[in-house]
Amino acid sequence: MNATQVTALPSTPRGDATHTFARLVVWAALPLILFGGSVTSLDAGMAVEGWLTVESSQGERLLWLYPLEDWFRNIGQFVEHSHRMVGTVVGLLAIGAVVAAFATGASQAARRMTTIALVAVCVQGTIGGFRVLENSPQLAFLHGALGQAVFATLVAAAIVTSPRWSAAAPVAHESAGSLKSLATRATATVYLMIVSGAWLRHTNDPMALALHLMLLFVVLASVVLLFKRLSGFDGGLSHLATSGRRLGWIIKAQVVLGVLALMAVMVWYGPSATGVHDSILPTLHVLGGALLLGQCLASRMWVGRLLKQEAGS
Ligand code: HEM
Ligand code: HEM
Repeated sequence: MNATQVTALPSTPRGDATHTFARLVVWAALPLILFGGSVTSLDAGMAVEGWLTVESSQGERLLWLYPLEDWFRNIGQFVEHSHRMVGTVVGLLAIGAVVAAFATGASQAARRMTTIALVAVCVQGTIGGFRVLENSPQLAFLHGALGQAVFATLVAAAIVTSPRWSAAAPVAHESAGSLKSLATRATATVYLMIVSGAWLRHTNDPMALALHLMLLFVVLASVVLLFKRLSGFDGGLSHLATSGRRLGWIIKAQVVLGVLALMAVMVWYGPSATGVHDSILPTLHVLGGALLLGQCLASRMWVGRLLKQEAGS
């Protein structure tokens, strides 16, 4: 790889409050997606009636005062209520990131990105609430497809608030332009694949399966090329190689999980699961989609941040 004036980037020191919160939001969003995916797999979207105030065995209650015996009554109520509670934790941490960004005088980009992430979480939570209030399959699809984009936004906020991001200075590189468009293409096609997956999951339409599998070739073409090209970086740009290696692992795992999810819903168990054993594979495939999208976006952001077009090319 031909790069000039490359210096090693600082790693993230402990104690940076904005970045710590932004990272915690991403970590807390992982169980949120697992619980949300389980709700869809188990067809438990209406297991807890109401939003903000909910029906319980002890009458109407505030969501956060839902009785424990109802919460743990059966797997449907457990995953649905847990999804909402983890959603609350994600919301509080996202507020923490915004407060920390403004209180510590973080960069304008960090303040803007943590605010966008908080708004995204609020919009997603509201769609989730209305999906239940209206008992709407359309909103369930929208919530599923948008949830993945919200996760990617949280990843973007964690990156922009990192000291590594602030300290980075782009270096001239011959393939800056082509890598940027490749990473943009990978991110966009992965998201299209996610939307087709949500369509499939929420309707079982064979057309959606056909589209999902056709898009697989487009996704593989861009993601595999991207991870191979990124893996070749070293020295001060080794962060790009790390990004590439992560992409490689996630895409491989996601294809395997896709095949297993297909077997689970079409051959072994059927589309509506009844417990952990038959819901876990499709649910892990949902999580894999979020991780792949997040990693593609992260790669795109780092390519844009670390590389610039060589003068005169
Ligand atoms: C940041 C907040 C949230 C995120 C990122 C999120 C994300 C998700 C994801 C990824 C799924 C899986 C969709 C699928 O497998 O296709 C899901 C399902 C679901 N979520 Fe959320 N969610 C959030 C907040 C909420 C809230 C506050 C509610 C309130 C009630 C809610 C209600 C639901 C329901 C009912 C489902 C199942 C939809 C169905 O019937 O298939 N979510 N969520
Ligand atoms: C990189 C490749 C892939 C990505 C990014 C991806 C992404 C996704 C996502 C995110 C969902 C759920 C959407 C939602 O409800 O939120 C989904 C559903 C699904 N995907 Fe994939 N997928 C990939 C590859 C595959 C492969 C290779 C197969 C099978 C050969 C497959 C089969 C399925 C099936 C059967 C479902 C529906 C599962 C259900 O009904 O519970 N996917 N995909």
